[in-house]
Amino acid sequence: MKIKSAEFVMSNSDAAKCPKSMLPEYAFIGRSNVGKSSLINMLTSRKSLAKTSGRPGKTQLINHFLINKNWHLVDLPGYGYARVSKSAKKVFQKFITQYFALREQLVTAFVLVDIRHKPQPIDLEFMQWLGENGIPFSIIFTKADKLKPKAIQRHIEAYKNTLLETWEVMPNYFITSSSTAIGKDEVLRYIEDLNWN
Ligand code: GTP
Ligand code: MG
Repeated sequence: MKIKSAEFVMSNSDAAKCPKSMLPEYAFIGRSNVGKSSLINMLTSRKSLAKTSGRPGKTQLINHFLINKNWHLVDLPGYGYARVSKSAKKVFQKFITQYFALREQLVTAFVLVDIRHKPQPIDLEFMQWLGENGIPFSIIFTKADKLKPKAIQRHIEAYKNTLLETWEVMPNYFITSSSTAIGKDEVLRYIEDLNWN
């Protein structure tokens, strides 16, 4: 799919105030600093559509972007940011939970995980929660430029083995890098297929 236009629509801390339109929507979620905002820029070939930072906790709100005037990409704040207070975590959990509960137009979520790390309980728990709530998701492994191809395969195998302890099948997944644009065509093709087939 060619990205002809990509526009910021709005930021929100209240899922109920997100755009009313029923355009198909795709949300990017994962730990702080995993590369959600960078991936959105990579997919849309826009340098700073979504704000990125080397410091975790950059994205604090639900951000809607309108792509090709007919679908939405959503940049969500990261979870698992250690330096945030317990009460802030609760507020955050509530608005993320609400986002997923309210957005009927969500076609699928993309759960981002850093390909360099072992499966983290917080990510596995989040996927479990999505599954229990009937929310479709795919996994996007990020920062693939940081590993050699053999290590990538080894890490994917380890992830699969862990997931298959609780899931009957391995969820759909993509290997990506926002630095080299690995995986860009695959993710965009996947979205295109879901939107128009
Ligand atoms: P929060 O908004 O804080 O939750 O973070 P985020 O998940 O949106 O991460 P962000 O896109 O801001 O990226 C975090 C850091 O990782 C930045 O320093 C990025 O440059 C870096 N980064 C993101 N993706 C990649 C990648 O594919 N490869 C490399 N090498 N660095 C990346
Ligand atoms: Mg971000």
